Amino acid sequence: MWGVADKGIEHRRDPRQQEHDVAGDDFSPLRFADDVVWILDQTRLPREESWLECRTTEDVAAAIRRLSIRGAPAIGVAAAYGLAVAVRRDGDSAYDDARALLAATRPTAVNLRWALERADAVRAVSGDSLGEALLALARELHAHDIECNKRIGAHGARLFRAGDRVLTHCNTGALATAGYGTALGVIRAAHAAGTLDLVWVDETRPLLQGARLTAWELQRLDIPFRLVTDSTAGALMARGLVDRIVVGADRIARNGDTANKVGTYTVAVLAHRHRVPFYIAAPRSTIDPRAASGADIPIEERDATEVTTVFGNDIAPPGTPALNLAFDVTPADLIAGIVTEVGVLEPPYEASIATALAHPGMR
Ligand code: MRU
Repeated sequence: MWGVADKGIEHRRDPRQQEHDVAGDDFSPLRFADDVVWILDQTRLPREESWLECRTTEDVAAAIRRLSIRGAPAIGVAAAYGLAVAVRRDGDSAYDDARALLAATRPTAVNLRWALERADAVRAVSGDSLGEALLALARELHAHDIECNKRIGAHGARLFRAGDRVLTHCNTGALATAGYGTALGVIRAAHAAGTLDLVWVDETRPLLQGARLTAWELQRLDIPFRLVTDSTAGALMARGLVDRIVVGADRIARNGDTANKVGTYTVAVLAHRHRVPFYIAAPRSTIDPRAASGADIPIEERDATEVTTVFGNDIAPPGTPALNLAFDVTPADLIAGIVTEVGVLEPPYEASIATALAHPGMR
C-alpha cells in the first residue's frame, strides 16, 4: 500500500462476485451500481484485487487523491460519477461543493476539468432531474472513453512494423482509463495484429505504475514484456533494442507540448538521440485548448515521502529532503505523432490539433 491513508472507505473483495478479466474488452477499473461507485483500488495491486465502495463525493475524491483510481481518462470518468453521487444523495444544492472538491483532487490531468465542464453544461439545461442527468452523463463518458481507446488502438497499431519492440512508461491501460487503454491500447492492438515482438516496461518511480500495474495488465493479456528500471531506457536504445515508444498523456497543449508521468521527457530526449520514433496516445479530451504551450500546464507536486519510502519503508536517511514532481513536459518537437481517436496527428501540431478539435463527434 502506498499513498494517503484510506480511512473511512470500505474495501470489498469483489463487488457482485463478478469475474474481472482485464483481458476482456469490457474490463473497467470503476463501475456504478445502486448509488455506489465501485473503484478497483490500484494502490493494492498487484498484491490484492480489492474494490473501494464509494458512497459519497468525499469517498471518490479521496480515491482520486490517493491514486486508487488514476490515469487521466479514468480520473475524468470517476469525477463525473462522483458529482452524480452528490446530487442524487443530497440534492441539486450539493453540486457546487462537490464540484469544487473533485476539481481540487489532481491538477495536471485535464480530463478532470473536461468532465466537470461537461457536467456544468448538463446542469445548465437539466431542469429538476439533475441527478439523473449527471448519472447519464457519467455513463456516457464511461462508454465514450472505451470507444475512443479502441479507435486510438486501431490508428496506433498501423504505425507498427513486424517484429517491433516497443517501450512504454507508467500505466496507460484499462486501469488508467474507463477501459482498454490508450498507449497500452495501441500496444494491445499491435499485438492482436501480430506486429509486436516485445514491450519494454519502465518501472516508473516513485510509485511504480509500470512495475505494479502495466506488468499486471500485460501478464493478463498474455503480451510478451520485460520490466526494466527507468534508468535502463538509454542503454536499451543504445543497443538497438527499441523500435518505437508509445506513452500516454495527462495534458496536451495547443502546440503539442505534452505533460505525462515524470520520466517521459527523459525517454523522449533519449529517443531523439537514438532516432527512435516517440509517440503520444491520448483521446481528444486530454487536449487543453486553453494551454498554448507546456508552460501553461500545471505540474502536480506530491508528497516527498513517496520518494523517500517504498511500500512504507524508508530508503533514505530520516529527514532527507526530496522533490516529487508527478509529471514532466515533453516539447512537441520530440514527438513523432499524437495518436487520437480521430487519427494520428502530425507536426505542425498547432494545425493538426486544431483540425482534430474541430472534428465532429463528442470530444
Ligand atoms: O499519476 P498517474 O498514475 O495518474 O499518472 C498517469 C499517467 O501519467 C498516464 O500516462 C496518463 O494519465 C495517461 S493514462 C491513459
